[in-house]
Amino acid sequence: MKSNQNGDLEQFFPVSIYSIQPNKVNDFRIYIKRGNNYVLLTNKKEAFSLSQRDRLYNLNIETVYIPYNEAESYDRYLVENLDKILYDENIPLHERSKTFYNLATDLSYEVINEKLSSDYKFKDLLNVIDQTIDFLSKPENLASVRKLISHDYYSYTHSVNVFVYSAFLLNQYNYDKKDITYIGSGAFLHDIGKSLIPHHTLNKPGALNNKEWEIMKKHPEYGIEACSNLSLSYKTKFVIRNHHEKLDGEGYPDRIKKIPHYVQIVTCCDIFDALTTNRVYANKRSPFEAFKLMKDKMHKQINLDILATFIKFMGKSPETVHSE
Ligand SMILES: [Fe+2]
Ligand SMILES: [Fe+2]
Repeated sequence: MKSNQNGDLEQFFPVSIYSIQPNKVNDFRIYIKRGNNYVLLTNKKEAFSLSQRDRLYNLNIETVYIPYNEAESYDRYLVENLDKILYDENIPLHERSKTFYNLATDLSYEVINEKLSSDYKFKDLLNVIDQTIDFLSKPENLASVRKLISHDYYSYTHSVNVFVYSAFLLNQYNYDKKDITYIGSGAFLHDIGKSLIPHHTLNKPGALNNKEWEIMKKHPEYGIEACSNLSLSYKTKFVIRNHHEKLDGEGYPDRIKKIPHYVQIVTCCDIFDALTTNRVYANKRSPFEAFKLMKDKMHKQINLDILATFIKFMGKSPETVHSE
């Protein structure tokens, strides 16, 4: 996703020095900026040394630059080393959270735009999910990631947000790590079928007419179609196909009332993120307003125990909700 936003003038993108492991040989070049010039710090196949990092700290330099045409190598390095960064207590929590959130949104953007034509990106996605699950089990880490969450709606950030909330809640309900990886990848891909919905329907500012609504309601089934060449676990598929089911049987596409608990978790997280994000048809609500609306208006449709757990733990994050 690291496309050059400024035409051909900028040839580099900024990254935090905290995202670069010292003493590790890299496949990309690292530059620092001096005035308007980029100065080479380490070449390909060279390691960014601890003493170089310390020197940059002392100069108050926390941002280094990578050439755009080496973005693939940088992303590959992050996918392979995310856990070393996430669990390194020497790196400020905010920087670790930022490294995860930026990588996850980049990956999500690529997965959605490639419509999963190959399973190459999907393997990266599973790898990132696997390395992140323990990190996302802690309320203070969730709070740190939440500060980065975009409140403007983009399909690729929505996917990451629903994954973040779901991974946290699944951990609270003691699902095992393997299951969280399967369910978490379902949370990540839950709306992938929207990439097959016509743009004008998906982004219509006003209410959808009946015909448009019927098309929109097809996105869970389209999601299964979009992932047909991947070997997904049945739990991942259940999340993709059934994340709009409701406990009163009024959901879609199968109108089932017996919804697996893990799907109900993802559904709660999906609704919460949608309500707290600006959409073309509605302004974002505060977490308090969102939880209140879910409790007052959706109590027959969603699992109230999951909602209570969600509210309880979000109460430990800064901008929150000390409900009624
Ligand atoms: Fe959906
Ligand atoms: Fe969604």
